Amino acid sequence: MLREIDTNIWVAEQPLRYFGLNVGTRMTVIRLANKELAVICPIQVDDPITLQLNELGHVSHIIAPNLFHYLFVSEFKKVYPEAILWAAPGLELKKPELPIDRIITSNERNFLDGIEYLLFEGLKTFVLTEFASFNECVFFHPATRTLILTDAAYHFDESFPLPLTVQLMMRVLGSYRNLSPSFLEKVAIKDKEKVRQSVQKVLAWDFERVIMAHGTIVEKDAQQKLRAGYESFLGVSL
Ligand SMILES: [Fe+2]
Repeated sequence: MLREIDTNIWVAEQPLRYFGLNVGTRMTVIRLANKELAVICPIQVDDPITLQLNELGHVSHIIAPNLFHYLFVSEFKKVYPEAILWAAPGLELKKPELPIDRIITSNERNFLDGIEYLLFEGLKTFVLTEFASFNECVFFHPATRTLILTDAAYHFDESFPLPLTVQLMMRVLGSYRNLSPSFLEKVAIKDKEKVRQSVQKVLAWDFERVIMAHGTIVEKDAQQKLRAGYESFLGVSL
């Protein structure tokens, strides 16, 4: 079920396993000034969510924000065929079967009216035997001073229901009580300078809250927390 986070912004979560660990996933819904809804990082669409969305406005934009979070976009597009399916660059090559309408290709700050975005370059993760790029697009909703990330930072803590084993794993991976990427990204990233430049662009936005796909939403002082998380992750001062 969707829950309101602030004016014109909602989230909904569902369980999701990644290599056997239930890290959950979260989608964000933003209502634009023209009452259109933008759905970022969709979860499984179902009747209760559809009913809620239809009460809030008209789903006009469905956004697959990186190369990993696309699992539920086709179902969303089936329910809302008139909506534009936006995809992070490269997703059209990785998953050509997706009904993508537009690729998010540049660092233009004007994306949808009321939402700014940029491509977070340099971020990679370790998956089984390879280092894989995220090609993540991150979003800023100035009206609520909210930054919306997908995998660019995790934030697990006591308020996120994790089995003890998973909690221990998150501590080992450096994703517990930190707003930062994990050890899996640390070993995969080769171009730290690119990541540093990306996070500095993100930090130029005046945000107070961070919504991410995995973990507990940070409601206060999120800019400082993201800066601190990335400083220790990159080993540089930002
Ligand atoms: Fe993820």
